[in-house]
Amino acid sequence: MECLQFCHRFPVLMKKILMNFLTMVATLLVGFPMLGGAVEAAETQARERSSFNADWRFIKGDPEEVGDTFRLPEINKWLASQRSEYEVGKTALRPEGNLGAAVSYVAPGFDDGSWRKLNLPHDWGIEGPFNQEYDGETGKLPWWGVAWYRKHFEVPAADRGSQLYLDFDGAMSYALVWVNGKFAGGWPYGYSSFRVDITPYVNFGGENVVAVRLDNPPNSSRWYPGGGIYRNVWLVRTSPVHVAHWGTQVTTPQISAAVGKVELKTSVVNNTEAPASVSLKNSIYVLDRAGAKVGKAVASGATPPLSIAPGERKEIPAQLAVPRPDLWSPETPARYVVVTDVLQGNNVVDQYETPLGFRTIAYHAKDGFMLNGKPYKFQGVCNHHDLGALGTAVNYRALERQVELLKEMGGNAIRTSHNPPAPELLEICDRLGMLVMVEAFDCWASGKKPNDYGRLFKEWHEADLRAMVRRDRNHPSVVIWSTGNEIAEQNGPWLSEKLTRIVHEEDSTRPVSVGCNWLEAGFNGFQKSVDIFGFNYKPGVYERFHNENPDIPIYGSETASTISTRGEYFFPLDHGGQSDFQMSSYDLYFPGWATTPDTEFKAQDKYPYVMGEFVWTGFDYLGEPTPYNKDTTNLLNMADPEAKAKLKEELDRLGKIQVPSRSSYFGILDLAGFKKDRFYIYQAKWRPDFPMAHILPHWNWPDRIGQVTPVHVYTSGDEAELFLNGKSLGRKKKEAGQYRLRWDDVKYEPGELRVVAYKNGRQWAEDKVVTTGEASQLALSPDRARISADGKDLSFVTVKVEDGKGRVVPRSGNEVKFEISGPGELDAVDNGNPVSHESFQASERKAFNGLALAIVRSKPGEKGEIKLKAVSAGLVAAETTISAE
Ligand code: GAL
Repeated sequence: MECLQFCHRFPVLMKKILMNFLTMVATLLVGFPMLGGAVEAAETQARERSSFNADWRFIKGDPEEVGDTFRLPEINKWLASQRSEYEVGKTALRPEGNLGAAVSYVAPGFDDGSWRKLNLPHDWGIEGPFNQEYDGETGKLPWWGVAWYRKHFEVPAADRGSQLYLDFDGAMSYALVWVNGKFAGGWPYGYSSFRVDITPYVNFGGENVVAVRLDNPPNSSRWYPGGGIYRNVWLVRTSPVHVAHWGTQVTTPQISAAVGKVELKTSVVNNTEAPASVSLKNSIYVLDRAGAKVGKAVASGATPPLSIAPGERKEIPAQLAVPRPDLWSPETPARYVVVTDVLQGNNVVDQYETPLGFRTIAYHAKDGFMLNGKPYKFQGVCNHHDLGALGTAVNYRALERQVELLKEMGGNAIRTSHNPPAPELLEICDRLGMLVMVEAFDCWASGKKPNDYGRLFKEWHEADLRAMVRRDRNHPSVVIWSTGNEIAEQNGPWLSEKLTRIVHEEDSTRPVSVGCNWLEAGFNGFQKSVDIFGFNYKPGVYERFHNENPDIPIYGSETASTISTRGEYFFPLDHGGQSDFQMSSYDLYFPGWATTPDTEFKAQDKYPYVMGEFVWTGFDYLGEPTPYNKDTTNLLNMADPEAKAKLKEELDRLGKIQVPSRSSYFGILDLAGFKKDRFYIYQAKWRPDFPMAHILPHWNWPDRIGQVTPVHVYTSGDEAELFLNGKSLGRKKKEAGQYRLRWDDVKYEPGELRVVAYKNGRQWAEDKVVTTGEASQLALSPDRARISADGKDLSFVTVKVEDGKGRVVPRSGNEVKFEISGPGELDAVDNGNPVSHESFQASERKAFNGLALAIVRSKPGEKGEIKLKAVSAGLVAAETTISAE
């Protein structure tokens, strides 16, 4: 397996000749003439997919009569036995019996008028309050327990005869769904998307009630999972003959400059009582940046009619050819869409869209990863799914902002650690250009927490894996499947082989991997159970792995795990943590298993066959506040005895069992999405052609006059000269294997610290930090001053505490109060401080090291000017306007 070629190269034909034959080729490939105008003239009854997020009712806890009705182990086995969606030839889940029929909350007539009214997506955990006594590992927020949601909705009489589905993008967790008192389906794994067929239970022409019960067992996650219907829900109406759930698979078996061949497999179900004669018309369109179709179809073709028996489904193949395809890559994210019309006679009975991009991926043990035939390194990050102050309630703009920030850093890849992502993330990554490694699980049969996926693995791993791949396999951004992270079964290939096989049955065009933390997994046979091998935190073993496995491509599935708090610096440099539970931002500190960005860079550069890395993590996340992440015993995470002693003292003083830390220190950006210093060491490495220099620390040290205060510089240049108050402190050059320039003996004096960076002897970039005056004013800068008036769009407003000259005052922590007017609301506030127990939903927030964040949300259908005002005692207030359009 020297090269894993996941897309064959089209033989090189002369462009001109090929173009002459293109129209003919397209017709020959589909073997059937195009239907053209006849279709448009006919009456259509295409599908409708509408948001099902509005106006839900919510309550925590079960009613008394529940008793033992929903014991999780039995429910899971039972649900699994009812599952038929993944057996070829069957259609949707049709549960036998009526689970929970005697529970009042499922009854259509139950009066839920006193329940809380809300819209989805909803995460009940993020509302808090934080509790010092809770485990820091999962965010010190109350996300566990049982909760119910109900929604009343009308179905028009005209829909009789249609098929109605509820598509849940994700519900955390153990979802059970009833419609009009009848149990309709469910899905335990909170990260899987699933469909419930509600057709048999619906009152057409009348009122309907859907009830959903969720159950988050405690001790079921190593990070903050959130709780609730935290992703979008859709009501899908189709005719009884329609494209099955995730029923298309598009591949591009041959791509050349002249033509991109497209292979489509479309599964069509016939939920009528009679055989259905079905043909498909497939059309491919170019998409613009915003996702709108551009002009006419660039390829189109129809399939001959075939008959589908009642209650069956059939896969219908088709081939198309797109002339001169634009290639997709992170730098040039050219997108297409396949529109599939399902025809019965001349009637379009369903219409389905499938994303498409043309790119080739190949994984070589020796030459690394190739994208579109060229060597390409993964400059990736791992991310958990929470969105900071918004919790896990998915928001398109919040995800998009993350991707934009990562791209600004030079990032080109995301690993969705350690679970399938929200579908929106993949659409964003397709659109903005970001490679994705989609991951399934954090554990297999042997769990890491008493109630985690280990409890589900036996009955559900196959269904969850197939659901993941079927949903996501058409996205050009997805380039690796991962079946797991640091699973306990790294002692041999057996289980892993099975999971790899399941994934390949659903998609043979991408490699399967696992994030491995066992050294032995690289040598004991496990490494052969995957297509490409990922080591978590083993830069020192890349070479041995390559020597002993010369045919297996390798990369860093998890790297660095450097810990820092934005804007905190402790001295001397061997002192990373301290008694206020922060971590110094010199980017030199890491837990025992981890390393600095620099050490990983060195290994990546030394061994060019290593395909790149996925840094732990892009953004800080709720939970896992290593090194302050458990109870007092975890003080042992600190290697420095002095720091450990101080922490112990502080804990004793506070008289608290738990440390206050509730979110991670691993992020390159903090929980609010503010850049830590680390952002710039990655930008320097990953965007070598972007002129930049960045100095740390800040330069406000009134207590350190005359004391050694090391200065580090990250630059994409190769040399730099540092000046303190105009006086040169020397020009330094990066030696091989060096990724930062260090002036470790600078004696602090207030004033201006300036760096001039050079590249190839030429002046390249500059940066400066200045000792500021006292805090005197606030400043507001929205990331977007115009947002959509859809009730979902957000503006992330950065609040700066400035001195009289408009410079951010580094250590300032002033309390800022927000006033909002116009058609917008303050959705959440944050400041990136991992130990703050202030509510995210408040209308005030202390600044943390000079910054705070206000997240402003539009109101549905209300256009106009939103005014946000920030006030703080003793400071000049600030105001900004955001236009909702
Ligand atoms: C890894 C693990 C991640 C996270 C990280 C922190 O071992 O896979 O989920 O816990 O450590 O360094």
